[in-house]
Amino acid sequence: STQGVSSAASDVYKRQIMLGAPGAGKGTHAGKISEKYGIPHISTGDIFRENIKNGTELGKKAKGYMDAGELVPDELTCDLVVDRIHQDDAKNGYVLDGFPRTIPQAEALTKALAATGEKVDYAIEINLDDQVIIDRMSGRRVCSCGATYHIVNIPPKKEGICDKCGKELVIRKDDEPETVKKRLEVYHEQTAPLIDYYKNEGILRVIDGTTGLEQGFQDICAILDQK
Ligand code: AP5
Ligand code: MG
Repeated sequence: STQGVSSAASDVYKRQIMLGAPGAGKGTHAGKISEKYGIPHISTGDIFRENIKNGTELGKKAKGYMDAGELVPDELTCDLVVDRIHQDDAKNGYVLDGFPRTIPQAEALTKALAATGEKVDYAIEINLDDQVIIDRMSGRRVCSCGATYHIVNIPPKKEGICDKCGKELVIRKDDEPETVKKRLEVYHEQTAPLIDYYKNEGILRVIDGTTGLEQGFQDICAILDQK
C-alpha cells in the first residue's frame, strides 16, 4: 500500500543509494524501501538481467562480465542510470541498488544530479563480513519477477515457488562459489572506495548487516525518517 506515503515521499525521502558487498541485502532492503515510501527501486543488476533474458544488445554485452563476476564497463552503465532517474516515476525520488559501483560512476551521478540542482540524500552502507556473505549467497533463490528468498532465512511458503507470482525459483548464475569470491574481490577493490567518497560528502550512514532483516529495515527507516 502506498497510502499516506506519496506526500511523505515527495517532501522527505528522496534519493537513496544502497552500498554494500554482493549479498549484503541491498536488493532485499531496497525492495522494502520502495514499497514503504512509494519510490522506484532501481537495480542495475536487475536491469542487466532483464536485458540478458530479452536478448538485447546491452544484454549480450553485459552477460560475459556478469557471469565472470566482473563489473560491466562504466560506459554501458552510467547513461542507462541517468536516463532511468529522469523518467517520470522517479521525480519524487528513488532507491538505487548496485549503482554507483565505481568512483567514475559516483562522479557521473553527482554531475547528472548537479545539472538540475539535485543531490543524493543518503548513501546507506550495509556492513558485514565476507564469510556471512558467502553463506547467504549459497542459499539465495530468485524469481524472474524480482523477488528474492533464502532457503533458510527467508524461505518461500512453498519450496521452490515464488510467493508473489507462483513461478519457479532459480539459483542466480553468478552465485557459484568461485564467482562469489571474484565478486567480493571486485567489491573490495572497486566499490568499497565509495564508502569514503560518500563519507566525505557527509551523507554516509552505516547499518549492521548481520542483524535480522526486520531490525535492519528498522535501522534504515530510522535513518530515512530522521531527515
Ligand atoms: P547485482 O545484481 O547488483 O549484484 P550484487 O551487488 O553482487 O548484489 P546481490 O544482488 O548479489 O546482493 P544484494 O546486496 O542485493 O543482496 P540480497 O538482498 O539479494 O549485480 C550483478 C552483476 O551485475 C555485477 O556483478 C556486475 O557484473 C553487474 N553490475 C550491476 N550493477 C553494476 C554497475 N553499477 N556497474 C558495473 N556492473 C554492474 O540478499 C542476499 C541473500 O541474503 C538473499 O538470499 C537474502 O534473502 C538474504 N539476506 C539479505 N539480508 C539478510 C539478512 N539481514 N539476514 C538474513 N538473510 C538476509
Ligand atoms: Mg541485488
